[in-house]
Amino acid sequence: MQTDLRGRDMITTQDWSKEEIETALNVAFDLKRKRVLGESHAYLRDKVLGMLFFYSSTRTRSSFEAGIDQLGGHAAFIESRTTQISHGDTATEIGEILGRYFDGLAIRNVDWGIGNKYINAVADASRSPVFNMQCDIYHPFQILADLMTIIEKKGDPRGKTIAVSWAYASSYQKPISIPQSLILLMTRFGMNVRLVHPPEYKLMPGIIEQAKENTRKAHGSLEFMDDMDAGFKDADVVYPKGWGALLTTTDDAESARIGDQYKDWITDERRMGLAKEDAIFMHCLPADRNVEVTDAVLDGPHSVVFDEAENRLHAQKAVMALTMR
Ligand code: CP
Repeated sequence: MQTDLRGRDMITTQDWSKEEIETALNVAFDLKRKRVLGESHAYLRDKVLGMLFFYSSTRTRSSFEAGIDQLGGHAAFIESRTTQISHGDTATEIGEILGRYFDGLAIRNVDWGIGNKYINAVADASRSPVFNMQCDIYHPFQILADLMTIIEKKGDPRGKTIAVSWAYASSYQKPISIPQSLILLMTRFGMNVRLVHPPEYKLMPGIIEQAKENTRKAHGSLEFMDDMDAGFKDADVVYPKGWGALLTTTDDAESARIGDQYKDWITDERRMGLAKEDAIFMHCLPADRNVEVTDAVLDGPHSVVFDEAENRLHAQKAVMALTMR
């Protein structure tokens, strides 16, 4: 167990060693147990988390805000449009100034080609730890909660097969941060990862290379597939969701035209039946109901989406408790 995490940023899970991630998960399970038993765990009394949002959120905002309160601290919710950022406050100034006000600074900026650079620039200037609440490349806290959920439901993740599959979604061009973060973390924990998508939905080459390297070290596997049925076949975990064709085009209309070719990439009961009998269905939410996944699957016996959403709270509290002391 690593005990020297005070002051550490979390911008991608790749920045933390496997042992450090295991520490965060151990603490997350302990905090979950404490909450269910009603045991006080006010480890961050009087600490304040600044939460800067450039983009909407249900789960991330609510779970960070509830989490810091349960740890004895307080959250300050800031929408970028209510600040002077559009009038000239730079990322460095935000890091310098807000890093002095707050004991931790959490940021969501998913703008393509901008979000990750922005969060890193703030972190470089901040004296307080910076947390990535989702950028254009990574969504580390979602994926920590996902790993926690897999361990809860399936035990040791080593050797288990996860299908990280693209799915058709018509609502908007969803970020690629979820599949990228999934293949990075699950390969480190020895899972057999299947990345399944139509050819236009490739992920960033640098992420694929890192995932391959993780696989080599953890003795898991990383397979690339373009058939959703084959991806689901005998999987222990299926995680199908939409993401934008951002490596192919950044034009929304063109991206929608590309996606329309693949409307049959939906998780329905037939497809879910291809996975193992006790397979779990995961989704970070929000989902396009009856477009990405049918109600019967999302609300059905394989679905663990609400436990998965709950684990955001416990995983985030663990990282805050370890880094903001
Ligand atoms: N999964 C997730 O990050 O949800 P929100 O966008 O609602 O925060």
